[in-house]
Amino acid sequence: MNIKEKMKPAFRKLEGGLFSSVEKADVGDALSDLQKRGVALMSWADPFAPDPSIPQIVLDKAIEVIKSGFPAHYMMPIGSLDLRKAVADRLNRKYGITVDPARNIIINPGSDIGLMFAMTPFIGDGDEVLVHDPSYPSNFLNAELLGGVTVKVPTYEEDNYHLRIEEYEKRLTPKTKMVLISSPNNPTGTAYTRKELEELSAFIVKNDLICVSDQAFEDTVFPEHEMVNIATLPGMWERTLTVCSVSKGMGLSGFRVGWIFGDDVIMDVLHGAAVNIQGATSTMAQMAVLPAMENDDFIQDYIVKYDNRRKYAYDVFNSTPGVSMKMPEAGFYSWINISKLGNSSEIVKYLAQEALVNCNDGKYYGEQGNGHLRLIHGAFWNDEDCFAAIDRMGAALKKLAISNGIS
Ligand SMILES: Cc1ncc(COP(=O)(O)O)c(C=O)c1O
Repeated sequence: MNIKEKMKPAFRKLEGGLFSSVEKADVGDALSDLQKRGVALMSWADPFAPDPSIPQIVLDKAIEVIKSGFPAHYMMPIGSLDLRKAVADRLNRKYGITVDPARNIIINPGSDIGLMFAMTPFIGDGDEVLVHDPSYPSNFLNAELLGGVTVKVPTYEEDNYHLRIEEYEKRLTPKTKMVLISSPNNPTGTAYTRKELEELSAFIVKNDLICVSDQAFEDTVFPEHEMVNIATLPGMWERTLTVCSVSKGMGLSGFRVGWIFGDDVIMDVLHGAAVNIQGATSTMAQMAVLPAMENDDFIQDYIVKYDNRRKYAYDVFNSTPGVSMKMPEAGFYSWINISKLGNSSEIVKYLAQEALVNCNDGKYYGEQGNGHLRLIHGAFWNDEDCFAAIDRMGAALKKLAISNGIS
């Protein structure tokens, strides 16, 4: 019996590393093998990993709630009302919007499931979803898993990967149903400007499309750039679902707490489907993150660290022959162009060997990702550990450039 033939076509193609060696950072045992060899893992978008980094206010609260015994029990699948209230207040402080915590927010176990959930009511049989390229790989796959079609919209290095609306217009068909935007973008660190999001919104409204805004990195925008929530732009509220979490900005990826907010007509459906699609979020984690939702000042210290690190990476890589990178506008990762030095898959392997650093092969982030590496410079608590890894990478890439006759 060929069990795969009984599966939906998009699922048949998936490989998790059980029967083949899979190089992607997020599947299989490849990472633990590298770790055993003493390689610095800088390929998971997980702030400060693997070092301890729970903010004190969250740690204290987590201990208190565990001791209370209450977290042995479920919270409602739509999430704790206290947390939804705190999210609503934070949305007001962050974007100046007023939402009803009882109607416009749902808590979930992080934005990976949040993104899938947000698309599920809309996407099926052949529906097309426009996704900028490069993008977070799951954002290319979700539509396909739902039976839809992902249509990649190129963005270009020379624009620092900002959007060209004409590229969206060129790909519009009668089947286009949704625009998915990762704002700010992983892996390019692009923080989309108000102007370009206004242009994108006008395109979405004019063509009566749905928008899913993946804002996993919304808290990581550097001060010289603006974080704009596309749902707040004219005509967008009733057609946008915004997906967020505590993973990236607060550095609490292991807590698995996220939220979706949007208009109550859509949210009523998500509330109705919550138990089937996302289940309930950890009670302990929801209670523990509450103080961070009420006071997230500690994120400013993280931004200072990321700012130093992006500048360090920028200096090292841009002074390495054959290598270049743009200054990230958000996030804690460097998007490095190594196309002059060779094939990115081979260079990832070479760097693990030569520099003892594991970074990501850009090809997983879309057609525009070829010839690039993504390095999580947000890894490790101490800046020195990060700088040392960047230095080792710079030296290894320089050696490669020299052996290729590039200086
Ligand atoms: C752009 C983007 N969105 C969403 C996620 C999912 O994050 P989480 O499920 O931890 O919220 C990630 C994780 O790497 C990401 O990079």
